[in-house]
Amino acid sequence: MTKPPVLLVDDVPANLVALQALLADLDCELVLARSGTAALRMLLKRPFALMLLDVQMPEMDGHEVARHAQDHPGTREVPILFLTAMNPTQDNALKGYGSGAVDVMFKPIDSTILRSKVRVFLELYSRKQQIADANRALERTLEELQATQVQLVQSAKMASLGELVAGIAHEINNPLAFTLSHLDTVRRSLDVIDAELRPNASETTRPHWEKIASRLGELGSGLTRIRDLVVRLRTFSRIDAGERGLASVRACVESVVTILGHRLEDRIKVELELDETDLIDCYPGLLNQAIMNLVANSIDAIEGQGVVKIGSRAERDRYFITVADSGAGIPLAARTRIFEPFFTTKPVGSGTGLGLSITYSIVQKHGGTLDVDCPPEGGTRMTIGLPFLGR
Ligand SMILES: Nc1ncnc2c1ncn2[C@@H]1O[C@H](COP(=O)(O)OP(=O)(O)O)[C@@H](O)[C@H]1O
Ligand SMILES: [Mg+2]
Repeated sequence: MTKPPVLLVDDVPANLVALQALLADLDCELVLARSGTAALRMLLKRPFALMLLDVQMPEMDGHEVARHAQDHPGTREVPILFLTAMNPTQDNALKGYGSGAVDVMFKPIDSTILRSKVRVFLELYSRKQQIADANRALERTLEELQATQVQLVQSAKMASLGELVAGIAHEINNPLAFTLSHLDTVRRSLDVIDAELRPNASETTRPHWEKIASRLGELGSGLTRIRDLVVRLRTFSRIDAGERGLASVRACVESVVTILGHRLEDRIKVELELDETDLIDCYPGLLNQAIMNLVANSIDAIEGQGVVKIGSRAERDRYFITVADSGAGIPLAARTRIFEPFFTTKPVGSGTGLGLSITYSIVQKHGGTLDVDCPPEGGTRMTIGLPFLGR
């Protein structure tokens, strides 16, 4: 800890030297000023525990210095002790208190009294510092607590939603399976009948016949979409965690790029910047899915030409995987909501709003973190941070 600074102000150098000698062995730093203006300049630079202020000085006298110090929020807190050679009258004392001093001492100064007064102010100052430190620590704790609370609420929400979703996915899955299989049977049977009856269809039945065929096709694609959704819901609710083990991040990233390759067209370039430390302990199936969701979002966010950069970086006990794109970025207002299940800004049919919440729950299952930031040059960067044992 630095020593508390005390400002000594007097226009007579001999007085300053005398004061300095008097206070030399106290646990404080003595700072000297030979005029009112010099004193004010120093007061503005740093906090002081106390100012010992001579009253009669040329140019700016002590009262004026005190008034200026009182006017400024940064210097108002510094206690002022007047040392004056004026007559020790009540009038003169009151004038000192009136211009903002906490104490007035008349010369000749009793050294014992002055020293004990200065000690009181030093003590006061260090108590004030302690309170300020404690306050800062408290504020920090409060902030941490609030962040933890937000996280807890988020994971509680995710957990109960996960159970609900798992239940729904399970309930939908059985009827869906036989509906899909029956649809297939109907289609095949219809093909058989179609060959025989269509050539003989009348003008009135033919349109119905064709409608049946086209509606069957739509039923099929609708049900397939439901099936895909159920698959995603199951992943989200962590039913299908799969095996845990060592996986190559490069292999994982490359398979994601291959699977999504057809959506890159000629317009999106993918750049890989992968750490040579490549094997990590994880649920490979889930990690695949987590990265896939991020890359899919990046592709969605790029209109026209653009770049998706996928990187990995091993640190001592963390492993980071980043997916950054040159896309539209995420408006500030949406940034707190993107991890919520079903939050999407995409048109009905193309976005489910589950991608990031799935990624979030996968990352959580690994005991990791998922962070979003939008760099000033535009685009979005998502960072998965996983616990990692040793580089
Ligand atoms: N890389 C990105 N760039 C811009 N917006 C993004 C990006 N990733 C996610 N978002 C925003 O977050 C929302 C939620 O993403 P997600 O959970 O994957 O659901 P979905 O992609 O189905 O909308 C998206 O609709 C989009 O608004
Ligand atoms: Mg998505």
